[in-house]
Amino acid sequence: MESALTAFASDLNLPPGSGPLAAYEARVAAGLLSRDPEQAKAATRLDRLWRELPGYHPVVRRPKPKGLFGGLKARLGLEGGAPEAPRPRGVYMVGQVGRGKTMLMDLFFELAPVEHKMRVHFHRFMQDVHKRLHDMKRAHPELTDPIPPLAHAIAQEAWLLCFDEFQVNDIADAMVLGRLFEYLFADGVVVVATSNTEPQDLFQNRPGADAFRPFIAIIQREVDTVVLDSPRDYRRGGMRGMTTWIVPPGPDAVQELDSIFMRLADGAPIRPVTLEVMGRKLVATVAAGPVARFTFADLCGRPLGAGDYLALATRFPALVLEDIPRLGPDNFDVARRFIVLVDTLYEQKVKLFGSAEDQPDAIYQKGEGAQAFERTASRLEEMQSAAYLDLPHLS
Ligand SMILES: Nc1ncnc2c1ncn2[C@@H]1O[C@H](COP(=O)(O)OP(=O)(O)OP(=O)(O)O)[C@@H](O)[C@H]1O
Ligand SMILES: [Mg+2]
Repeated sequence: MESALTAFASDLNLPPGSGPLAAYEARVAAGLLSRDPEQAKAATRLDRLWRELPGYHPVVRRPKPKGLFGGLKARLGLEGGAPEAPRPRGVYMVGQVGRGKTMLMDLFFELAPVEHKMRVHFHRFMQDVHKRLHDMKRAHPELTDPIPPLAHAIAQEAWLLCFDEFQVNDIADAMVLGRLFEYLFADGVVVVATSNTEPQDLFQNRPGADAFRPFIAIIQREVDTVVLDSPRDYRRGGMRGMTTWIVPPGPDAVQELDSIFMRLADGAPIRPVTLEVMGRKLVATVAAGPVARFTFADLCGRPLGAGDYLALATRFPALVLEDIPRLGPDNFDVARRFIVLVDTLYEQKVKLFGSAEDQPDAIYQKGEGAQAFERTASRLEEMQSAAYLDLPHLS
């Protein structure tokens, strides 16, 4: 199965076998990300781990060899089998919000050449751990310690565990974590995590903190901490707070859309982008990095369809749309296309910046399908909200 990121990597003409650093650099070069030396440093560390992964197999713990010869063979290293590659050290990325930790981890995860890998929100993972411990105790009341077999089962499911938002707020989690991770590491699992808290500060200044220290020591022993100290919160510095719907069109609106376009392009060169849609070509003549710019007539005044809009919506995280007119019964077909366009943009979480003759709910009030337009208007309103502007694009 081709993942979004390998598809993306081939989009950017990355040579096959490119790692997270190359993928990161390519995204920067394409104008999809701003250049950030702190992120490049973290990507370099992840790249090292990525290089260490091929051919790595977790060590299967064997019972100790029995008898005189077994012991001797073990001491002489004659137990058979290839020598085991050392387990690569994991990476714990820590920093304030919006620094790109999750973005980098996801980039790494997609490219990680590991047969069994899992990327999970840490909170979800711990819920699952408690549930499985509970089920094991119920099914095997004779089991005095379910943690080692659970760790073993997890290790078989995933040699590489990527945890988003590692944090410990719960005494029940704190009680389990130390031993669980001791066994996971012993079973050869490689751990990558993002967090807002440095390992030594996890679960501190509260009852039970002392008992938690061994876990901190395990993390520090097994995993490298990489601090992402970018000066910028990319989430905040993103589109939140930007004007999205400008009334009316005209020279002022054009100027404002120019500056929105430049800000979204973030230095990327303006050049046409050609998309393949079912064997046809669809050209975005004005595009730069993550943003494309069209007039309303370009997109809705021509016989384009859902496939065209989907291709645009998956390729571009942001769209500038100029001169959205008020529509009436005479242009119901144009209105229908606009409805499909907005639905598609909304579903892919594309951020829309437009100039229009009126507010969304006044764009199409009379004509075939005007009722369906009520939902479109409501979506257009929602697409102006800070919450929507914060959503990640679905590509
Ligand atoms: N260099 C960059 N240029 C442009 N956008 C970026 C850059 N780095 C990250 N972003 C974007 O900023 C947003 C926040 O990034 P991300 O979610 O990875 O942050 P985070 O460090 O995980 O934050 P949190 O601690 O809140 O989870 C995302 O939409 C991401 O794609
Ligand atoms: Mg994050």
